[in-house]
Amino acid sequence: MNDYCTPLNFDLPLFKTELSTIDFLKSQPIWADNYCHVTKEDFLSNSINYQRAALSSHFQLDWEKYLTDDIKKFFKDHGQEIYLCEIFFRYKNYSSGIHSDGKIPGDYSKINWIFGGEDSEMNWYKVKETYVDKDTNSMTPIRSNSKQYTPNDVELAYSENFRGPALIQVGCPHNIRNGNYERFCVSIAFKDPTLGRRPTIAEAKEIFKKYIV
Ligand SMILES: [Fe+2]
Repeated sequence: MNDYCTPLNFDLPLFKTELSTIDFLKSQPIWADNYCHVTKEDFLSNSINYQRAALSSHFQLDWEKYLTDDIKKFFKDHGQEIYLCEIFFRYKNYSSGIHSDGKIPGDYSKINWIFGGEDSEMNWYKVKETYVDKDTNSMTPIRSNSKQYTPNDVELAYSENFRGPALIQVGCPHNIRNGNYERFCVSIAFKDPTLGRRPTIAEAKEIFKKYIV
């Protein structure tokens, strides 16, 4: 077992919909209105296409409205408060930038599910000893914070093509390398009211221990 990705053995419907998860996510206007073909030049020039692609690549859903009662109950039964349901869409053959979630790197857990992206990989990195902290905070399309790293700042620690649900470490540098298939990630962020903050991976493993095989 590692401290980056821990598969959890439970199976609950995520969204209140008759559609498949992918069709449901593609029916969201924020995705459908902004999905577009993006060239390498678009990425380099921060063109309107790039900006639209960014909006379709990271958006949030109204979790109270769309998550099933089963999922809400699951978190509640384990003493956890959902506060965000984020969707990450990765275009084919696209690798996302290396980043840690939040303003300050640390030890934060989420539960993620992957749809599509059959040959994708999530990578986790260790910051090199020679790394000098830089002010590389940036705002995501949903106006949350992340801290960016260059490939020179870090060394690869672990990679996995997980399907979910899985407990995921997002406080250390990580990114996605996508392959030949579109990839959606449904990501639920939660807080523990007893702790007054997000659980660390070790704490989350304890909270959800009966689902770890
Ligand atoms: Fe992230």
